[in-house]
Amino acid sequence: MIEVCRSHFYKIILGLVCALTLWQLLVLQNVQERVFIANFQYNISNIVNHFSSEKVSNSFSLPKETRSAGGVNFSSFWEPSNLYLRNETEFGNSSYDLCPETPINLDGHITVLKTSPTLEELESHITNLMPGGRFKPFHCKARHKVAIVVPYRDRKQHLAVFLQHLHPFLQKQELDYGIYVVEQIGKSLFNRAMLMNIGAAEALRQYDYQCFIFHDVDLLPEDDRNIYSCPEMPRHMSVAVDVFDYKLPYQGLFGGVSAMNRSHFEKVNGFSNMFWGWGGEDDDMSNRIRYKKLLISRYPANIARYVMLSHSKAKPNPSRFRVMKNGAKRAQVDGLKNLRYKRVKIQFMKLCTWISVDISPKERS
Ligand code: BGC
Repeated sequence: MIEVCRSHFYKIILGLVCALTLWQLLVLQNVQERVFIANFQYNISNIVNHFSSEKVSNSFSLPKETRSAGGVNFSSFWEPSNLYLRNETEFGNSSYDLCPETPINLDGHITVLKTSPTLEELESHITNLMPGGRFKPFHCKARHKVAIVVPYRDRKQHLAVFLQHLHPFLQKQELDYGIYVVEQIGKSLFNRAMLMNIGAAEALRQYDYQCFIFHDVDLLPEDDRNIYSCPEMPRHMSVAVDVFDYKLPYQGLFGGVSAMNRSHFEKVNGFSNMFWGWGGEDDDMSNRIRYKKLLISRYPANIARYVMLSHSKAKPNPSRFRVMKNGAKRAQVDGLKNLRYKRVKIQFMKLCTWISVDISPKERS
């Protein structure tokens, strides 16, 4: 017996070490999973921080200068390049059942508050988000991965009211979503359409979204049956707005709030980049949709209702009709294909991903 033990001494030791290591690994994994699940309900951002070590903070900047080299190609965009997103995918709720087709906790008409605390104060009120204003339902697997893209300049108070309203609204709808605020810096005229192209492109750098909802910051939905899901056909969402007497101003309107799935958005080459100042870019998109034989869909007007926050009206761009004229030809090149911009900063804030861009002509040449 002693002889046998002696001859197998090293094998026995090796066996013991292996068994011990395996046991430790199992225990550790179990603890990690339990910690994640227990905390997930309360504050996702803490958990993400907890698991993703040095790369994560609620607000950090990526390298300063990134310029798309003339046009964007969506297919190469989904790169889970940073740790927090990898963790979020790995530890997400993929093993749960799909959420119901119609969310069960909807109220119909909801209260719209036109005031809110400041953005900074609001950050401490809404605590169930992942960094960058990202959310997934906890108890079921969302049916739609939606990027909300908000073209923005100098409307901080509106933004706070908007975020205060939109987060609970989208969460009740059990969506897997993120809010992307695309801020135009510099002095050139506002270019809403280019900011929306950029928002779509930047959102896809972060996550595998299936669709985009392009959303003016001053529009607040009044009914939570107005589901922000990915549409089969481009969907114009702000059908009935209070300032228009809750009536659709004209049939082809695609402005305010509109949704497109990723393949349609690519198919029409995104929005035109050529509309500087107020107006026209949404009508141009409406034409692009028609050129590609797609249709604009809408929810009923008693559901797709919105309140508009008040602000001084911008001066319409007088040359918008001229730009729109050669739309069909221009749509081949002007859009995602020739999108160029300078991303000055990206911040993964608590309530949104904030992307500051310089799109002034000198930055795009
Ligand atoms: C503009 C659109 C705008 C619409 C409704 C049109 O004249 O070209 O951009 O959405 O009016 O205000």
